Amino acid sequence: MKITHVSAECFPIAKVGGLADVVGALPKYQNEIGVESNVIMPFYKNAFTQNNTFEKVYKSEITLGGNQLDFTVLKLKNNSLGFDLFCIDIPQLLYKDYVYSSEDTERFLSFQMAVLDWFLTLENLPDIIHVHDHHTGLIPFMISQSFNYETLKNIPTVLTIHNAQYQGWFSHDKIHLIPQFDFSKIGLLDWDGSVNPLAAAIKCAWKVTTVSPSYMEELKQNANGLESLLSHESKKCQGILNGIDGKVWNPETDEYLAKKYRISTNTSGKKANKKWLCKEFHLDIKKPLFAFIGRLVGEKGADLFPAIFQKALQENTISILLLGSGNIEIEEKLASIPKENFNAFIGYDEKLAHIIYAGADFILMPSRVEPCGLNQMYALRYGTVPIVNAIGGLKDTIIDIENNGFGICHHGISVEKVTQAIAKATTFYSNKKEFARNSKKIMSIDHSWNTSAQEYVNLYKSLN
Ligand code: GLC
Repeated sequence: MKITHVSAECFPIAKVGGLADVVGALPKYQNEIGVESNVIMPFYKNAFTQNNTFEKVYKSEITLGGNQLDFTVLKLKNNSLGFDLFCIDIPQLLYKDYVYSSEDTERFLSFQMAVLDWFLTLENLPDIIHVHDHHTGLIPFMISQSFNYETLKNIPTVLTIHNAQYQGWFSHDKIHLIPQFDFSKIGLLDWDGSVNPLAAAIKCAWKVTTVSPSYMEELKQNANGLESLLSHESKKCQGILNGIDGKVWNPETDEYLAKKYRISTNTSGKKANKKWLCKEFHLDIKKPLFAFIGRLVGEKGADLFPAIFQKALQENTISILLLGSGNIEIEEKLASIPKENFNAFIGYDEKLAHIIYAGADFILMPSRVEPCGLNQMYALRYGTVPIVNAIGGLKDTIIDIENNGFGICHHGISVEKVTQAIAKATTFYSNKKEFARNSKKIMSIDHSWNTSAQEYVNLYKSLN
């Protein structure tokens, strides 16, 4: 069986969020269990594409609303990723030093058309086309409805929703950009008066998955307008928990760390990494260190951070370190918090992220929406205790210490609830022996891709 994943992001080529981590790992694990799996993504202008060699495998042009656009399909020459990587190069639209912009309708539509145009020429077609999020959500529609792609229409399509908040909406004025189809089928593209690529994919894909069982359930109540659609289509929907890439996220082999460690050397290893962080960010190594890594947006609860941090820091008993960027107002408010027991690195730095997972005592994830969440699983692997709002994938992966578990859960988010969870964590930390035992225990929880990769394979098999 041959699977092609189509995605806007893929680690380590281009990463904005967790989507990249999943698309960079799942195909690798699928290949390992004997299911040939590759990835097609846009060719962006970034360090990866500039420092690696690609060969041209196909060249043609598409017509987007009357404009001819040349495109080239490039294949990565070395096979260091664990899967074949193909990139679509459309110089005017895709070759940019960013992934997302305000012209994404044209950019991702042309990307998807180029993918399908290329498929029309292939002898060895994929058995399944697996698309990820709204950026590639028009493929299931175009394959099943556009006259051009008639010969591809028997290829089953699978959509994975990594985040239903973003749907790729555009106005009906742009409908002419989509390759011709029977106009009586326009309803498949529309949701609430806009063209909605995510809704179109939910309607047209043969199967729909999302990245945790609880998020699948929650979507029926809260899906940014698509609740009734997801309830209606629930028979073809399934939640499959993401895994983490144990080859990238392994404290025993992690080259980024100040000191590598395994379960038996957890105490000294974590201490060395904490020491590195405390020195770099002027924090007190004796205090429990709480960290946040991620985008500073409402979905992650980041609008409450300035108030939460100020309150939690009042008693001078803890330290907080933040790594992330996003909403400017939040960034400014964070910058005005006194740098006593607190520091923030505004931006993103892969090495620093790894050292934080290793050196922090707790990882904060007070998300309002969390389809799966990978950070809590990275934290566990590095022996760091997650403090989470019990929703979506967080609910599926973290059990509270009060229920014989290993993490800290709060239910809903507010300044009060999160600071109370931080206080509970501080008490837990003060029981040094129990805290150390727990830190070792969580390192052995298995969230590797092996199980989930197999679940996807079972799903593909049901379609063939
Ligand atoms: C999105 C979701 C996150 C999930 C990731 C990978 O970024 O917000 O919860 O873990 O996709 O599926």
